[in-house]
Amino acid sequence: MHFGVDYYPEHWPEERWSKDVKLMKEANFTVVRLAEFAWTKMEPSENHYDFSWLDTIIDMLGQANIKTILCTPTATPPKWLMDKHPEIYQEDEYNNIRGYGSRRHYCFNSSIYQDYTKKIVSKMAKRYHDNPYVITWQLDNEFGCHNTVKCYCDDCHKEFISYLENKYESIEQLNSELGMDFWSQTYYSFDSLIIPKHTACDYKQGDMYAHNPGLWLEYCRFSSQSVDNYAKLQIDTLKSNGVKVPITHNFMSRFYDIDYYKHAKLYDFITWDCYPNIIHGPFDSIEEVSYHHDKMRGYKNQPFWIMEMCSAQGGWNFMGRTPNPAQIRLWDYQAVAHGANGIVHFRWRTCLFGTEQYWHGVLDHDGVPRDRYKIIKKTCQEFMELEDIIDNTEVLSEVCIVRSFDNVWAHDYQWHSPSFDYNQILSSIHVALTNMHINCDVVDLSVDLNKYKLIILPAYNITNESEVKKIQEYVKNGGCVVLTFRSGNRDEYNKINGLTLPGYFREMAGIDVINYDALGQEQIKIKGITGDTTATLWADIIDPKESEVLASYDSEFYKNTPCITKNIFGEGSVYYVGCHVTTPIYEKILKTVISDLSIIQHVVTPVDGVETIYRRSDNQEATFVLNHNDFPITITLSKPKNIKIHLEAYDVTVVY
Ligand code: GAL
Repeated sequence: MHFGVDYYPEHWPEERWSKDVKLMKEANFTVVRLAEFAWTKMEPSENHYDFSWLDTIIDMLGQANIKTILCTPTATPPKWLMDKHPEIYQEDEYNNIRGYGSRRHYCFNSSIYQDYTKKIVSKMAKRYHDNPYVITWQLDNEFGCHNTVKCYCDDCHKEFISYLENKYESIEQLNSELGMDFWSQTYYSFDSLIIPKHTACDYKQGDMYAHNPGLWLEYCRFSSQSVDNYAKLQIDTLKSNGVKVPITHNFMSRFYDIDYYKHAKLYDFITWDCYPNIIHGPFDSIEEVSYHHDKMRGYKNQPFWIMEMCSAQGGWNFMGRTPNPAQIRLWDYQAVAHGANGIVHFRWRTCLFGTEQYWHGVLDHDGVPRDRYKIIKKTCQEFMELEDIIDNTEVLSEVCIVRSFDNVWAHDYQWHSPSFDYNQILSSIHVALTNMHINCDVVDLSVDLNKYKLIILPAYNITNESEVKKIQEYVKNGGCVVLTFRSGNRDEYNKINGLTLPGYFREMAGIDVINYDALGQEQIKIKGITGDTTATLWADIIDPKESEVLASYDSEFYKNTPCITKNIFGEGSVYYVGCHVTTPIYEKILKTVISDLSIIQHVVTPVDGVETIYRRSDNQEATFVLNHNDFPITITLSKPKNIKIHLEAYDVTVVY
């Protein structure tokens, strides 16, 4: 287990460094991350390098037994470079340059930028590949931050055409697979293909998204692959210049433009940047953070790190709420419970200048260690004592939620019904499982399904025959699957497959969806295993055929027709949920589903706001108990032993 901070020595006078290192050492930190935005400090003008400051600080830290995660600095190309080669800038869909003044102002497909990348990365690799204090490399910083995956410049247009040329045998095949007959969009050659930017139907002026859904999906795949290629170029450069230590990158919870399942394969391990919703704005509630941790574990099905862990109030133009210091410890434990074996706090000291003056670090602007430093130091100490459990046990999940980026992208482009949000649907089902104290993996379909007792495929719309066969085999052999509305009706080209719904899943679900109702935010009545309650967003109107009806609509013209069914298929069972419900109602549905699956629940009676994560190795068991409430609680565990636990507000314990 590693523990440390993101450190920006280049922002502080050298005379301060020894004090910083001393404080870090006293806190028992084992790592710092350095240099992800420091290109100009390393190469102030073209071909004039200065690594002396970096040599000094890596050495000072190393002497104090604190290792370095060294970053390639490509998230912030210097001004001298952008002035010399303005063609590196990204272009938006209106042909505007996304200019200088913040960060990430480069196009992944710019061959000029790729050359400059190779140059700075090989220079760093040559210098530091055998430095014993450098234990990991991080590429760049948060690929995709600020919506920078999609670019519309000429380089991207050219590369997009060659991506399509490699994938489709002929322009005729492309026209036919993607359905270009619609609106006379037939292309007469690969060169005539567009990159899908603004059209006469301009959504920014209140119109709809109008591009061909298949071409749009290809563009999403292409842009994601462009990031893979760029990352690969950096990895190859590091390795060919002698780097042998692990290479990673910091992912983000709410970035959906990169297929992280594919992208994660490039790295030895992955990390992510965790900022719970103390920031005003679209950040994650604490339950969602749990979901994101499980997603991150699922990208490689192995432990991960937090490369930036929130340490305090944050914000750019304004600040968010100040966390109770106990919450900082709680969030660290939450990450570790879900599979993190490294935590790096963002950032060491709050900066006096620049965009992030309000984004507070472990130390305040004045550099004085106060409560946050003390609680982080204490947490680090506790993790050292728990090292055996953290390193040797793993999260044991008998349930998984399956997702895919094709579905993320396709649902995001055509969201079926107002307020339909694929990520939100998955997250609300995950929260239901958290509330039921059931561990859950979040994975793609490449995993071995047989290790799960229950597989949940919410809105799994784009799929293909081989995926469906894999799921069918799993069920036939005794597995249990929950499917929902909007599943199985699109092919990999984002065309509707024309099958009776639920399309590819019709046989195993044992039902016909004969009509549907896009409810938006309107509520309709339902009854059955859900109790008398309401559904929203979507209503599939179902002919249950031979399957068992578990709940029905209780209003609308389809009153008394089924909304939830169960079908026996081979040795296993398939549940179909035709409408969207709130998290407590998903809990009720899942309670029925798991009733004969003997799935491990780690508590005797759930308590609101208390999270438990059960971990196991061959000879050890441990349950992390986290009280997210601002008041004390008592809870009785059933795993690893029957024991009553009392926890103060925001307190945690590990039972083993
Ligand atoms: C992260 C980013 C950091 C810093 C932080 C706070 O997304 O990686 O560099 O900007 O947010 O804004």
